[in-house]
Parts: sequence; structure tokens; C-alpha cells
Amino acid sequence: MKKYGDLQHELEENGLYEIDSKIKSILFGLGFDEEDLNKRCNEFSGGWVMRIHLAKLLLASPEILLLDEPTNHLDLEARNWLEDFIRSYMGAVILVSHDRFFLDATVNRVGELFASDFKVYKGNYSKFERLRQEYIDNIYKSAKEYDEKVEKHTKFIEKFRYKATKASQVQSRIKMLDKIEKPIIPPKKKRITFEFPNSKESGLKVIEVKDFAKQYDEKIVFMDVDFTIERGQRIAVCGKNGCGKTTLLKCLSDVVDHDMGEIEFGYNVKKNYYAQEPTELLSLENTLYDELYQNANFTQGENLRNLLGAFLFSNDDIYKKVKVLSGGERARLALAKMLLVPSNLLIMDEPTNHLDLESKDILLDALKKYRGTIIFVSHDRYFVENLANRVFNFHDGEMQVFNGSYKDFLKKVEY
Ligand SMILES: Nc1ncnc2c1ncn2[C@@H]1O[C@H](COP(=O)(O)OP(=O)(O)OP(=O)(O)O)[C@@H](O)[C@H]1O
Ligand SMILES: [Mg+2]
Repeated sequence: MKKYGDLQHELEENGLYEIDSKIKSILFGLGFDEEDLNKRCNEFSGGWVMRIHLAKLLLASPEILLLDEPTNHLDLEARNWLEDFIRSYMGAVILVSHDRFFLDATVNRVGELFASDFKVYKGNYSKFERLRQEYIDNIYKSAKEYDEKVEKHTKFIEKFRYKATKASQVQSRIKMLDKIEKPIIPPKKKRITFEFPNSKESGLKVIEVKDFAKQYDEKIVFMDVDFTIERGQRIAVCGKNGCGKTTLLKCLSDVVDHDMGEIEFGYNVKKNYYAQEPTELLSLENTLYDELYQNANFTQGENLRNLLGAFLFSNDDIYKKVKVLSGGERARLALAKMLLVPSNLLIMDEPTNHLDLESKDILLDALKKYRGTIIFVSHDRYFVENLANRVFNFHDGEMQVFNGSYKDFLKKVEY
């Protein structure tokens, strides 16, 4: 009985009886509701799966919280919540993120892994960018000074080498030369480069959707959706996690069937789809090279190495299996694979997830140059503002169509 009592006490001390309420408070804080508690994880959208991962971590409340790209898939509301959470976290937080705004709001040290070196800078991301530039500028400055000194000493040595009266001075110059340390210039960062190949122009009307509806079992994702998309439009599909963005894009790409209504594609439309989870588009057992080779046409075979090179895969990498690639590498490979198919309609679901800041800018440029039509989802505000000229917004189960930029759209809506 005593043993029973002791064990009971130990369980109480360890918070067994509070765990239920703790789980609920964290899940509700993250926006889940009572009904969600008994659902299976695979029924949730990308952003909500991310929250489930976070909830598990938060429940453990470790002394050091390690977060690898926690903002991927999160909508603005969840991002803001996470920012506040990290700022007020009692323990230490080490995180990886490619989101400039998020980093600036959360971190006070930035460590950079570059050219086999790890250097820590004090301050947030913007400060890091400034300090890093100063650091690089300084290295170049000292490299220039080094070259000047070496040139000066070498000239002196060569000039007086055979002059007996200057022998000791020449010797000391030789010693000086030995002592000057050569600054090591870090290698330039490699950048991906690409353009989306355009196929022949489509007709003016690209897609017409009427009385469109989709549900999973009894859950209606959207209904009564109508819209027409014309050539050259760049449409941002916006809305909270789980509102139906991916579902809409999958229906337009024929990845899933819709339940009601019609989708009509215009004359000569050639579409190309990028999934929110790039892994959905890749065969994990393939090597990188085979992954492209199997999708390339007869004339592209010779250029595959160049294409992989443009996405920073070296000759050593190309026989790796897709399954060993990191999230960022998979995203780059899926993008490379898209370039094998000329198109005039790009349907892209969160293409910026996993991409570093520079690659995001390069993707943005490539999309701006693209002459076709683009429908895309992104939670990256900078990206959406710079690309969209029309917005489809899911709100309270309805899809609103807004003709104009994202900035104008934000001014117009009140929430
Ligand atoms: N295979 C499925 N079975 C059941 N429900 C699903 C399935 N796929 C998605 N859902 C549900 O449909 C709704 C819409 O999901 P969808 O993935 O389209 O959202 P989303 O707007 O893309 O969200 P996110 O911003 O998180 O990616 C969600 O409530 C989701 O839980
Ligand atoms: Mg989605």
C-alpha cells in the first residue's frame, strides 16, 4: 500500500494529472478546437501539421528549444503567435529560418555556417547582414594592404639583393615578408540561376471555373466557387492554414478530383504544378540524375548536368538518392524538374518554403520574367507583394476575388 501511495505521489509530482489540461491549453492556444482533438494527423493541412509538431515540442518545454524552419507552412496569425512565444520563452532557443522578418523579431545572435567555418554575430538578422558585409569588406581591405606590402618589400629585396651595404636591411625585409599573414578571402556564395521555359502562348481565357465545390468525406472545403483567369495574370491564393488553398490548386492541376461544377481550360493551355510538399513530386528511390532523366525529352539529355549544376548540385551529388536530400535540396530538385517542361500556366503551392533568402529572390525574378499565367500560394509577404496582380482570398468558407495588388487588397479588407 505504501509503495502504491509513493508511486501515486510520484505521478502527481510529475504532472500526470495535469497533462490533459496542459495538452488542451497548448493545442487551443495554437488554434485547434475541441473537434480537432480526435482527428488523425494526416487529415490536417500543411500549416496545421506544423502546429502539431510545435505543440509536441512545447509540451516538453525543454531548456534548449531547437527549431528547424518552424515558419514553413504557417499563416500570418500562427507566425505572430510563434514570434511572441519565442520572445517570451524562458530557455534558450536555437532556430534555423529563411524568413527575414521572423528572424529579426526573434533572435539576438546569428551564427553563420559558411566555407567550413562557423561565425557568431551579435544582434538580429538585419544587424548580421550589416556586420557580415563589414567583415567581408574588411577582409578585402586587408587583402589589398597585404598585396601592397608584399609588393613594396619584394621590390626592395629585388633591387638591393646584390648590394653588400644593404644586406642586413634585405634580410630584415625577407623576415618581414615571412611574418605578414595572408588574409583568407572567403569564397563567393554560389547562387542558383534559372528561367522557366515558356511554351507557345495560350488563348486569352486560361481557366473558367463554375459552381465549383470540393469536400473530404462530410467536410466541405469550399463550394459555389466561380472565377475566370486570363492570360498573364499572376494570382495569389491567400487565406489561413486549412482554408483550402492546396485543395484548390490540386483540383486545378488534376491531382485530386472535384465534387461539383466545371473546370474549363482555354485554348492551348500547358500547365505545370509545384506541390506544397515537393516530395509528392519526386521518386525517393531515384538518383538525382535519374529523377530528371526519366522526365527529360530526347534533346534535353545532354543538358541535365548543367541543369543540376544551376541548382547547385555538383557532379558528386548527382548520383545521390533523392531520399537523402535535405528539405531545401528537395525543393531545388523539384524546381529543376519543372524546368524540363515548357508551359504557359504555372500552379505553385508555397514554392518559397525551404528556399534560402537569395534563392527566394532568384525564384521571384524568374517568375516575374515568365510570360505565362501564374497561380500561387505563399505566406511570404514580400514575395506575394512583389508578384501578384490579383488575389483570391478564402475567408469564412468563401472565396473572394480581388483585382489588384496584394497591398491594395490588404488596404481594402478590414481584418
Ligand atoms: N486527404 C484529406 N482528408 C481529409 N481532409 C483533408 C485532406 N486534405 C485536406 N483536408 C482538409 O481540407 C481542408 C483544406 O486543406 P488544404 O490543404 O487545402 O488547406 P490549405 O489552405 O492549403 O492550408 P495550409 O496553409 O496549411 O497549407 C483542411 O481542413 C484539411 O484538414
Ligand atoms: Mg496548403
